[in-house]
Amino acid sequence: MSFAMGLIGCGVMGRRHVIGMKQLKAAGKLNFDLVAVCDIMPANLLKMADHAEELLGTRPQQFADFDSMLKATKLDGIIVTTSPEMHTEVAEKAFDAGIHVMVEKPITLTVSEGVRLVEAGKKANRKLAVAENYRRDPINRLGKALIESGAVGTPFLATQESNGGGEFVIITPWRHRKDRGGIVIDMGVHYTDILEFYLGPIDTVAGMNAIVDKQRTDHHGTKHEADAEDLSVGVMRFQNGAIANWLLNVAGRGEGSFSRMIYGTSGSLAIPGDRTGKPLRLVQRRDGKDVTVEQEDLLKLVPDFHLDDVTAALFKGDRLTTYDMTWADIDANLLGIEQSDFVDAAINNREPEVTGEQGLRSLALVFGLLESELLKRMVTLDEILEGKDSPYQAEIERGMKA
Ligand SMILES: NC(=O)c1ccc[n+]([C@@H]2O[C@H](COP(=O)([O-])OP(=O)(O)OC[C@H]3O[C@@H](n4cnc5c(N)ncnc54)[C@H](O)[C@@H]3O)[C@@H](O)[C@H]2O)c1
Repeated sequence: MSFAMGLIGCGVMGRRHVIGMKQLKAAGKLNFDLVAVCDIMPANLLKMADHAEELLGTRPQQFADFDSMLKATKLDGIIVTTSPEMHTEVAEKAFDAGIHVMVEKPITLTVSEGVRLVEAGKKANRKLAVAENYRRDPINRLGKALIESGAVGTPFLATQESNGGGEFVIITPWRHRKDRGGIVIDMGVHYTDILEFYLGPIDTVAGMNAIVDKQRTDHHGTKHEADAEDLSVGVMRFQNGAIANWLLNVAGRGEGSFSRMIYGTSGSLAIPGDRTGKPLRLVQRRDGKDVTVEQEDLLKLVPDFHLDDVTAALFKGDRLTTYDMTWADIDANLLGIEQSDFVDAAINNREPEVTGEQGLRSLALVFGLLESELLKRMVTLDEILEGKDSPYQAEIERGMKA
């Protein structure tokens, strides 16, 4: 019997997820059926039903709210692609109904909600996956294999820096509101996830942050109030002793930039932007000299490296050092990979790659940067997860109660 999937939230990301399903189907790797979609906005719901019918060949049932969807369907799993403030409510209802959940990042609006959601999943004995796509990029898979093989020796420093965005609305106005999951959280969780993906658990962070633009302009020229930070600068300490240097500048004018580097005792690895297909650049220190490792020699350092079946099918190769595809196809492939992992985890009763706990760590680390500044000290991940002294999130929670 096939795995019945529902999708809640038919906005930008909901529609992108359906393109991911189309890619899985085309590669013969679709392990579920999208049977129902839900959105509180009728126009988005209709657009989604048309989109899904066109891409997947069948028209899913449509619901204007999740309660009616639950009453009228028998779902095995759902993908939650609403804006973050609705993730917890929808996912908790699903767990109560015995349904597995994959929620888009950030897992929830606040850490305390995330702690509650992880508990709810455990109590219901259902899987909770977080849709974190960047780590699924074949280039990041190879990068991690190289780091693990010792290609740069013992890593002692990671840098994660990006500059761009200007004074404009990034995708949707809600991303600039603190009580809806501001842009530093929205983008930052990708980067805390990738840092831990490469170098393991982080335990301490310190940050300084700012709101550069208190108003942002959308592509129609309309101005929107912005009360969420758009600049975050910080440092983090991994459990293994390595340090991360963090810069997320979403107010960047002038020259845009992206840089992710890992430095170790015997070299450096430059990791390209996610979803670009560009190659890694490995420079090794050999006999006191820095030598750039040629593309064709990278794979010799990791003879056992292979992409998983689904990734290899979608990206057409299981030992890739680079690939050339449109951004839309790359994006859809990565979403397809995480969907397939979620369903396989539910069917085979194993943990998905990005569990609720991992998604919660990513969120807590970014909040740690914001809490640290208000507390005027370094904070540990444990204390943020425990909810001690979280003045930044306390303000969001007070707003939710008001
Ligand atoms: N992984 C990525 O690369 C990536 C990229 C973009 C967005 N996202 C994430 O996806 C999620 C959605 O972002 P988006 O850009 O699609 O937002 P969006 O505003 O375009 O879409 C959200 C949709 O959810 C609907 N919605 C809100 N509350 C609902 C409810 N209670 N029941 C049903 N529908 C409801 C809205 O009407 C809207 O159509 C966010 O968590 C965001 O961070 C992830």
